[in-house]
Amino acid sequence: MTLHKLIYDTDPGIDDAIALVFQARHPQIELLGITSVFGNADIDTTTTNARYLASRFAPDVPVARGASAPLESAPPAPIPHIHGDDALGNIERTGDVTVQEDGRAAHRFIIDTVRAHPGEVTLLAVGPLTNLALALRDDPEIASLVREVVVMGGAFGINGVLGNVSPAAEANMRGDPHAADIVFSAPWKVSIVGLDVTQVTIMTNAFLADVRDSAGDAGRFVWDVSRFYARFHVEEGVTDGIYAHDYSAAAYVVARELFTTRQGPVRVLTEGIAAALTIQKPLAMPVPAPEWDTRPSCDVCIGVNADAVLDLFAKTLR
Ligand code: BDR
Ligand code: CA
Repeated sequence: MTLHKLIYDTDPGIDDAIALVFQARHPQIELLGITSVFGNADIDTTTTNARYLASRFAPDVPVARGASAPLESAPPAPIPHIHGDDALGNIERTGDVTVQEDGRAAHRFIIDTVRAHPGEVTLLAVGPLTNLALALRDDPEIASLVREVVVMGGAFGINGVLGNVSPAAEANMRGDPHAADIVFSAPWKVSIVGLDVTQVTIMTNAFLADVRDSAGDAGRFVWDVSRFYARFHVEEGVTDGIYAHDYSAAAYVVARELFTTRQGPVRVLTEGIAAALTIQKPLAMPVPAPEWDTRPSCDVCIGVNADAVLDLFAKTLR
């Protein structure tokens, strides 16, 4: 049985929380740490939420506070209409928060942990990629010491979708496009789980109710935390349930056979009306493209067995 040592880099966030519960429950995942980043809310809120989630579902896992703003711009405006005022769907919180902040900044925690486990650590990043870019800047050698980077972010037009916060931008890419371009261009193995597959995998309300009724405290939490998010989805035209954004990336770590991928370097636009657009040059494409050809290939998800991905979630929580 393969064991995956993970650092979960996250901006919790409702779907981030759901993905954390899955990681805490999956027997092949060993969580080495949770690193927070701005995104779905400001850094104080996402760090508070990370500590709350760790205390409730993964009490031995350290939490390190990450970046409060993107590399080259001011922090984004809050988005309480998507994740709630507290970014966890305004749920009633139960239990004490026992997990304190690790004293280190998130990027330093990443560097130290990767160096302590050379070749073993997967970075699962489901928010803006600022912490990973800062870790690379401070210690570029970690690129050769990380096992893999799995990112929820971007959109490659497979189903005609290029973004969810603009016609050309997915939220995590828009959070810090410069950081994303750095992370995708570094010499480490990167897999990208974007809207092309996360919007195909929908946790319906019936599915979530079944999880609520069959998976104890974790199941009830997933139901409670998803209520606010489900109402936002109705406004967005998804009438029944929620997109499985961040959970899909966690599922990819343990069950990549449920996804099909396309290989090739990925660039992220950093300027202009299409800033944060992700563009892959497939390896099979014969034309020269110097802005891509000097970069390493990434695995981009272009297909998913959505039923099996959902099944994995329900089985793991039970
Ligand atoms: C991504 O944006 C955030 O709002 C979600 O948590 C997810 O990581 C989806 O575009
Ligand atoms: Ca997220």
